[in-house]
Amino acid sequence: MSLDAGGVRHFTDVDDLSRTELETVLDAASGFKSQVERDEPHPVLERKTLGMVFEKPSTRTRVSFETGMTQLGGHAVFLGPDDIGLGGREPLKDISRTLSGYVDCIMVRLFDHADLDELAAHAGVPVVNGLTDDAHPCQTLADLLTVRETVGFDATVAWVGDGNNVAQSFVLGCALAGVDLTVATPPDYGISEAVFDRAAELGSAPTVTHDPEAAVADADVVCTDVWVSMGEDGNRDEKLAAFEEGGFQVNDDLLAGSDAHLMHCLPAHRGEEVTNAVLESDRELVWQQAENRLHAQKGLLAFLLDAL
Ligand code: CP
Ligand code: NVA
Repeated sequence: MSLDAGGVRHFTDVDDLSRTELETVLDAASGFKSQVERDEPHPVLERKTLGMVFEKPSTRTRVSFETGMTQLGGHAVFLGPDDIGLGGREPLKDISRTLSGYVDCIMVRLFDHADLDELAAHAGVPVVNGLTDDAHPCQTLADLLTVRETVGFDATVAWVGDGNNVAQSFVLGCALAGVDLTVATPPDYGISEAVFDRAAELGSAPTVTHDPEAAVADADVVCTDVWVSMGEDGNRDEKLAAFEEGGFQVNDDLLAGSDAHLMHCLPAHRGEEVTNAVLESDRELVWQQAENRLHAQKGLLAFLLDAL
């Protein structure tokens, strides 16, 4: 658990929350979602400011956090790569201590997960992981909210594709929530053993296979993500070949005989990890999933800032 010496709670990955806390965050998310639908004000973070530091591009993460702070009565400040010069202009620990004097919470999207840990170690306010090369826990909160709203946590879920940041946090989230998960990745692009070990500690490691057909056979929900993540362009051709040869594309053939829903964190690369036909079919939950980023993160922010 990322609880620093000063008692500040961080959210570096999903397992920084206990199972009970995860339920608290998701319940808050559902409550805020209802309030948005009823057009009911809910300014529980009035006069609070979120600093948002981005080393990589974003649509959903940036807009959902900024809109979320506005809806909660607070404010968000965007700091892109050209604004803050992360790690180049001054040390991370100096940025962390400086921002902690201005804002009430810091959300960061970074390449190196170790940089997130360094920022959190020196922050006097909660630090939230908005994606690193290793983890994307805010996505997992939205994914679990979407599973809970549609099939429920007794769902059978399959991850088909890369063992990347989104997959790794999803494994931890499913373990925490008690969701039955099967993971199908190519042998050379799997999830780290440390994540599987942590999932086992949390209660349930997923079933692991390299066979996408076996993974989706009994699935209520099939999840995937891009085969080449931001910052991985160096081995793009090699990765695409491995996933294509292994049959990891989520297409009508793979889903033949299945009525599984499709989840994808987006952005999607149609024709690579998923076909246009599947993404645009009535299987998709992707727009609900994307909207749920907003509600889930509002639940998280209110939890971390003691506003529930
Ligand atoms: N799913 C997700 O994090 O999207 P963005 O990269 O657009 O923020
Ligand atoms: N795995 C993807 C997720 C984008 C939201 C990436 O890191 O690029």
